[in-house]
Amino acid sequence: MEVYDNSRALKEAVTGWQAAGDIVAFVPTMGNLHQGHIALVDVARERAQRIVVSIFVNPLQFGPQEDYLSYPRTGDEDRALLIEAGVDALYLPTVDEIYPYGDQAATFVEVPEMSGILCGAFRPGHFRGVATVVAKLFNLVRPDIAVFGAKDYQQLLVIRHMTADLCFPMEIVPCPTGREDDGLAMSSRNRYLGAEERKIAPILYQSLKAAAQRVEDGSRDFEKIQLQEVEKLAHADFRLEYFEIRDAHTLARPQPGCVELVIVAAAWLGRARLIDNIRVSL
Ligand code: PAJ
Repeated sequence: MEVYDNSRALKEAVTGWQAAGDIVAFVPTMGNLHQGHIALVDVARERAQRIVVSIFVNPLQFGPQEDYLSYPRTGDEDRALLIEAGVDALYLPTVDEIYPYGDQAATFVEVPEMSGILCGAFRPGHFRGVATVVAKLFNLVRPDIAVFGAKDYQQLLVIRHMTADLCFPMEIVPCPTGREDDGLAMSSRNRYLGAEERKIAPILYQSLKAAAQRVEDGSRDFEKIQLQEVEKLAHADFRLEYFEIRDAHTLARPQPGCVELVIVAAAWLGRARLIDNIRVSL
């Protein structure tokens, strides 16, 4: 695995692979890699001959009170995992390369209709930071496909919309959520959970599954389903931000006739902010 700290040499490698007829897949990350990230690499390998992974803790997507400075940085372990996973190139951009005018970016990319709701309502500016950095990374790496996790469902939709709207010539490929044995969605932030909280954490996914089951069983009283799960989670010590049944394509409240739903939830447990979702097709 070659490691690149700037895009010039990386771009040469990518162009060379593409000229030789190889498909190049790109997996952007913020590091502190776990098996959920490695699942993205596995999806990339099914679709491409070459895989580029980036690790960049993006200051622009963290709010002023969030964990940018303390976000876990585990470079050596990450590198070993990526070598084992058969990644061809690791790109470790500097803040200067990504933000030549400083880390508050003079130019933004924003997907307004998707960015102010759900997670965006609780994390103002977050999706603008995500869309901006991903657009930059797409320009710097120029892959044929890019893989994103369905765990961050709203992020996946923001990236899909941005890619289509800005005519980036690449395909966005989703990867199913990687979970621990007890169902908890893998996340770099799970390490913020204390031992007791870690035992409680899988209840979030159980709640999503219970709500999905009720919809599949025929209930269409979404408000009632949401309320029941909100109460259950509050009782289990979660500090809930939202628990919502939404249209899977737009994230709007489902209109009659909508057949593709997603149930999305975000909640704090101790110091950890957990997000998760489940798809339901009617
Ligand atoms: P990060 O949280 O490191 O996640 C990198 C990628 O891994 C994202 O596409 C995310 O959805 C995916 N991922 C994380 N946990 C997962 C899991 N349990 N199962 C499947 N996929 C999972 O998301 C970001 O970084 C950043 O916002 C980024 C897109 C890199 C832009 O800075």
